[in-house]
Amino acid sequence: MTKALDKVHLDGELLPLAEARIPVLDRGFLFGDAVYEVIAVYEGVPFLAQRHLQRLARSLDAIACDNPFDAAQWSALLEQVLAANVEQLPDRAALYLQVTRGDNAQRSHVFPSATAPRVLVMALDSPAPAASAYEAGVEAVVLDDLRWHACHIKTTSLLGNVLAREQARAAGAAEALLQRGGLVTEGSTSNVLAWIDDTLVSPPDGPDILPGVTRDWVLEQADQAGVRCARRSIPVQSLAEADELWITSTTREVLPVTRLDGQPVGNGLPGPHWRAAIARYRASIATTTAAG
Ligand code: PDD
Repeated sequence: MTKALDKVHLDGELLPLAEARIPVLDRGFLFGDAVYEVIAVYEGVPFLAQRHLQRLARSLDAIACDNPFDAAQWSALLEQVLAANVEQLPDRAALYLQVTRGDNAQRSHVFPSATAPRVLVMALDSPAPAASAYEAGVEAVVLDDLRWHACHIKTTSLLGNVLAREQARAAGAAEALLQRGGLVTEGSTSNVLAWIDDTLVSPPDGPDILPGVTRDWVLEQADQAGVRCARRSIPVQSLAEADELWITSTTREVLPVTRLDGQPVGNGLPGPHWRAAIARYRASIATTTAAG
């Protein structure tokens, strides 16, 4: 995910990106006291938007911050930002939504008694993963999960994720798969699924992972296609026996991981189960965009 498009919504105003400013006392800036969402947009149509808005509502609830809008108001706002950027909007874009707790002109850890949440919505260019990622798969490394125990909240406090992602990049890998106490949690910016013993396995929901919208969709589609699916813990060692390993996220969709810590996963090539999953995923995107 890369460049932000020129028109952004900040606190009720539609502005050129270069003119959008937040006060330095904003609690999102000072404390990471903020939550966010990223929604894929294909040919101008948001994908799985209601699920992202539901998760945003849950994240706000978890940090005891008022949700400034209901789902219909959020949807209208997203459409407004897309419309404002329509001339530059690429076929594959994303919407970035952030709500911070705002500020009350002080720096204090304690919640302010009255604040207005601050809302930012941007449209982003979101190019497809490189063709090589589909042809050969990507490489990942396993790293310790140094994050807190509330990873189900999609907060902008992302330092643990950022450090892991950077460590993976420095090692020439596309993603860091994180482990806590010998169990796989998730990727630094993605969820993890593994094909083990003819079952599509992904770690259970809980405080150690973000409940990924993409992962849940992929699991639901697999289940409907008759695939045996299980949400259960994955010991790191069992990845060595996985036939296939995938990561999922809004921006990277479903990617096959074919090398882990320098070793091939399965036969070292994207597998047939991944091919079936990405075909189902693409079909659902096509249906969504056709419906407009
Ligand atoms: N991140 N886990 C983490 C830590 C993530 O940051 C993400 C996505 C996911 C996948 O969630 P979803 O399928 O709902 O996108 C899992 C987004 C894309 C980001 O921060 O840019």
